[in-house]
This record gives sequence, structure tokens and C-alpha cells, in this order.
Amino acid sequence: PHNVTKGANGVLTVAGVEVTKLAEEFGTPAYVVDEDDFRGRCQAFRAGFDGWDVYYAGKAFLCGAVARWVAEEGLRLDVCTGGELAVALRAGFPPERIAFHGNNKSEAELARALDAGVARIVVDSHDEITRLAKLAADRGVRAPVLVRVTVGVEAHTHEYIATAHEDQKFGFSLADGDAAAAAERVLAEPALELRGLHSHIGSQIFDSSGFEIAARRVVGLHAQIRDRHGVELPELCLGGGFGIAYTTQDDPESPAQLAAELGAIVEHECAAYGVVKPRLSVEPGRAIAGPAVFTLYEAGTVKTVQLDAGASRTYVAVDGGMSDNVRTALYDADYSCTLASRWSDAPPALSRVVGKHCESGDIIVKDEFLPADVHPGDLLAIPATGAYCRSLASTYNHVPRPPVVAVRAGEARLIVRRETEEDLLRLDVW
Ligand code: LLP
Repeated sequence: PHNVTKGANGVLTVAGVEVTKLAEEFGTPAYVVDEDDFRGRCQAFRAGFDGWDVYYAGKAFLCGAVARWVAEEGLRLDVCTGGELAVALRAGFPPERIAFHGNNKSEAELARALDAGVARIVVDSHDEITRLAKLAADRGVRAPVLVRVTVGVEAHTHEYIATAHEDQKFGFSLADGDAAAAAERVLAEPALELRGLHSHIGSQIFDSSGFEIAARRVVGLHAQIRDRHGVELPELCLGGGFGIAYTTQDDPESPAQLAAELGAIVEHECAAYGVVKPRLSVEPGRAIAGPAVFTLYEAGTVKTVQLDAGASRTYVAVDGGMSDNVRTALYDADYSCTLASRWSDAPPALSRVVGKHCESGDIIVKDEFLPADVHPGDLLAIPATGAYCRSLASTYNHVPRPPVVAVRAGEARLIVRRETEEDLLRLDVW
């Protein structure tokens, strides 16, 4: 994050607070949020995507405080379950700025969203159209709907795959004509109002050519709907997926650059199809939450193993692991790590940061050069853990989930407390 520096004594400082102090006060492991950095990223998206609607994708990380920050910074919010919706509503997030996603929303979830008056419901299946139309009709309301189109583009990091077909659970396939059929059904339902189309092609994307193909295909459908039904849909959502730097090799574009690129792509496609450019929206999650957080751990057991050809690897085990960051185990994600509690001039040693869970895949950082004298009691910081870490956390091995500490202008405060042993035992029926 922006307000993180390392002092001459080697101690990492966030917004004026030394991590040694944070560890003393809140314990480890802990997720540490640089609040001004999180808010700054919201502002950068809002300013960069001027004239667009920007939805923060709450799946990346959501809690009451984060919902309030997002609301205060003037963004909208994408929720994808009744649970995320509940957090948002409890935090006082204005429902008229919430969009509701998900491939299998239950009737109860849809009813709650309608009763709350959310801004958009992104319909994902024919079953959902049936369900939502009935629930809206029962309530005498007209539900504002986007149709989620799967465009045959799957993008991850620096690569994308464009095919005709979508073999996955989300949305209505374009190639099958299913997306056109869904739009037609929504248009024909008096209790539903078709506001536009939605496309989301993947996550941690650096290459805009995937967006280009997606935009071409989705604007093509937009034109087809205009031609067949005489309706110019007013909105188009391009989803999220903007990549962040996990290691120094990644070099993400700024929100303003992304907006310029995506805007030009859509404009070009709209001109080509001769349709009026709809109001555009995006749904960044990772790009807002990811870089604003680091995880603070305490090192415990350290062991060195000999590899072939005289090389060695040091395993540094920390007091958390795949229960608070499953991304390395699940996606083979890359992270970096830094010694955060002291200065060391020991030579660098090839190290692997691992957790305390009972499986060998419990790795947080695959390869990092840490000082060779890292020892029990040292604090380690793993940057860029704000997205899909706390939100994917589990209590595997009955390890309580870490707290989230927000630091701003020299003050640290708890925004999510540490789970306790009592919390873990609470659900058992004794
Ligand atoms: N909109 C929709 C419809 C989505 O499905 C997602 C993410 C987003 C927006 C936000 O995408 P973002 O800007 O955060 O990339 N757990 C995985 C990522 C899963 C993404 C799911 N959908 C990971 O840790 O890499």
C-alpha cells in the first residue's frame, strides 16, 4: 500500500504505525488495511472512470467498515449472495447503489433484494428469470435487470482464450442464442425491466484484448436486440477483473488508462454496429482491495533442507497459512514476503513461507529470498492480500480466522475482530 515504508531500523510502518506495535496490540496473524490506500483506490476508480458507474465487487473483501468506506467514496457495490447483501444493508449501504449477482440466487435472496430495493439484479439463468418475475409480480414491482452474457472469452492474467462456446456455469451463452432468448424473455415480462447486458470475462487480467473481443460480441447482441425488438438498451456492464501487482513483474494500468482503453473499445464497437453508446459500468474488486492490505505473521519453526547441486531451501513456518490465504494452494498464486520487525544484513537465503496446517500444500509464498537469519519471533509481512484472502478464509484445523486492523493517520483500529476458540466451538451441538 501507499503509506507503508520501512524505517532505518528495518521495521515496517503503515500510516505512521510500526507493525511491531500492531503485533503487540492485535496479535498475529492479522490482516492490516491501509485505509487511506483503500479509499484512494476507490477515488482513483471513480475519477478515472468518470461518467461510468463503478461497483466495488464485495466478494474480494467485505465487512461493515469496508461497506461504509465504499459508500462514503461514492462507489456502488456488487454483492453476490444474501450474506453479502446483509452486510451491506447492516452497514447502511444505500440499496439504490447495489447490484445483485450470482448464478443460483435463492427465492429468499431475490425476495430480500427486491424488498430492499436494490438497483440492479443481474439475472444468470432461465430459472432465475422465472423466479424473479414471479416474486416481482407478487410484490407489484418492476425489477431492474441486467442479463449476464457469457461471450466465450476466458481471460486470466496475460492470456485469454476466445472460443465460440462457454462450458461453465455462469450466465447465458451468446453462441447458443441463449443470451438473445433470455433478453427476449425479460423484455416480455411485465414485472421485469431490461436495463442492459453484463459481461465478466475473468480475473487478474492484464491484457485488454480479451475485453475487446467481449465488447465486440456483447455490443453485437445489443445491436441484435435493437434490430429485433426496437429497444436501445441503456446500460452495459463490462464486469471486473483488473490485475494487480503481486510481485514486481506485474505492472498494472491505472484506472484512468483502463477507462480510456475500455471506453475506446466500446465506442468503436458501438460505431461499427451503429448503436447508441450505453451507460457503462465496471466492477473492480481485487484492484481496490488487493494492494491496500498486507498480512502480518510471526515466524515460528524454521528449517533448512538441502536440495540438489548444493542448493538449499529454508522453510519458514508462520502462525497462519492456507486458512487465511488459500490462493497459493488453490491457484498457484505468487506472493512476496518481507522481514518486517528488524533490520538484517544476513545474506539472502532461498525461502518458502509455509503455514501451520496439516498438509504440505500449505504454502503462502513459494519462493522468496529472506535474510538467512530469520528466526522464531520475527514478524513477516506478505503484501497484496486484501482480495480473496479474508473472504476465502476458513477455519481449517480449527485455526481461528485473523482479525482485520485498519490503520489511518497514526491510528489503528479493529474492523473485524479475531475469531476465538469460543467462536469455533459455538456451532457444535454438545
Ligand atoms: N464481477 C463479477 C461478475 C465477478 O464474478 C467478479 C469476480 C468480479 C466482478 C470482480 O473481479 P475482480 O475485479 O476482483 O477480479 N478467488 C479468485 C478470484 C475470483 C473472482 C470471482 N469473480 C482469486 O483469488 O483469484
